[in-house]
Amino acid sequence: TNFKVGYLIGSLAKESINRKLAKALIRLAPEHLEFTEVPIRDLPLYNYDYDPDFPPPARAFKSALAAVDAVLFVTPEYNRSIPGGLKNAIDWASRPYGQNSFARKPSAVIGTSPGSIGTAVAQQQLRSVLGFCNSPQMNAPEAYVQFKPGLITDDGEVTVESTAEFLRKYMAEFHQFIVRVYTALPRNA
Ligand code: FNR
Repeated sequence: TNFKVGYLIGSLAKESINRKLAKALIRLAPEHLEFTEVPIRDLPLYNYDYDPDFPPPARAFKSALAAVDAVLFVTPEYNRSIPGGLKNAIDWASRPYGQNSFARKPSAVIGTSPGSIGTAVAQQQLRSVLGFCNSPQMNAPEAYVQFKPGLITDDGEVTVESTAEFLRKYMAEFHQFIVRVYTALPRNA
């Protein structure tokens, strides 16, 4: 069985290293995972006045999340947290009350930064948010990727074999995690 994975990139930057990482992860993933980006760029800033009538970009965002079996967050760390744009997207997804797009939907988090902590602090904060949103999260392996120039080519090829192998295992584990979640409770239940 194939599973659909929607990936969210926490960065809106044109040359985002996290976008490069996402590309690499897709290349290294098991063939039973199908990937689509769930874009966050066009979402206005959320407030609950929108709840009775979400604007088109927010509707599209929630439909895209509803269409996938699992979510992969690939995010940079901004000031030891997740970028505001990503938090804004999560807030949209969590509402209106009772229509939380992340509820019971498996997720995983990963990210890269030039610093040696490799987005660890941001990822911990994201895990806390996703916990509240009732998303079953892959706990392990964790992946904190320090980005050095040339680590990932523009085509998403990882140039360091040990890193490629690590990321391949990460995606294989994510696949297994998704399988386990849906074996316990089938998608149509
Ligand atoms: C950063 N950066 C950064 N890096 C980090 O490891 N921890 C941090 O807390 C921060 N904080 C931070 C704040 C802001 C406002 C910016 C713009 C940058 C550096 C960051 O890791 C670097 O810019 C990466 O290139 C961001 O990833 P993307 O956007 O290229 O995917």
